Amino acid sequence: MGRPLSLVPSVRFDDPLNDPALAGFTTGGASAYEREVDEIVKAFYDGHQPDQLQFLIAEAPGATVCVCAIHERPLQGVDPGAMYVGVIGVAAAFRGCYLPTGESLGDFMLTRSLAELFARWTVMPTVWALIDIANTRSQALFSRHAFAHLRTDKYQLWVRPAGLAV
Ligand SMILES: CC(C)(COP(=O)(O)OP(=O)(O)OC[C@H]1O[C@@H](n2cnc3c(N)ncnc32)[C@H](O)[C@@H]1OP(=O)(O)O)[C@@H](O)C(=O)NCCC(=O)NCCS
Repeated sequence: MGRPLSLVPSVRFDDPLNDPALAGFTTGGASAYEREVDEIVKAFYDGHQPDQLQFLIAEAPGATVCVCAIHERPLQGVDPGAMYVGVIGVAAAFRGCYLPTGESLGDFMLTRSLAELFARWTVMPTVWALIDIANTRSQALFSRHAFAHLRTDKYQLWVRPAGLAV
């Protein structure tokens, strides 16, 4: 069941290394894929710095709401200049929340991240993601943003073709 938020979180570009706003960040830890997301955020906090990293963090007063990292990662056989959604996660205390507009926080964060990418590159690159087979909520999120499910190996490969508007 959803919970309305009365405010729109503020979004900033972040250098995740040792940012206290990310210390102990968790999406809830109820499933293996949520724990994997928490570990990825911790790796950024600990210094993982892929090329062309765009790390956005959404905050409410005194609280981290949501994070999203996008960075360079070639998609073999499709686009050597592709960008990759390294992580997206809503903090446990804000899971299920939605904005006054009705937008969920995952939608809000992914839209902002793609828009910032477009602003930086002036053309929209190929963007891709790997999603756990059991993570149907994430699959639904990405499909709402014009990502298509290309194939399934260990993870599901989702691709958003270059040139699409946000
Ligand atoms: C994947 C993720 C980012 C998607 O974000 P999200 O769509 O905002 O998802 P949340 O989990 O915060 O909440 C979704 C729920 O909010 C509620 N909700 C959202 N908008 C709503 C609205 N306008 N009205 C009523 N309820 C609403 C619904 O209960 C919805 O559940 P449903 O999808 O089953 O209908 C988020 O689920 C998450 O952080 N998951 C854990 C980390 C993760 O798996 N990351 C992705 C790795 S690939």
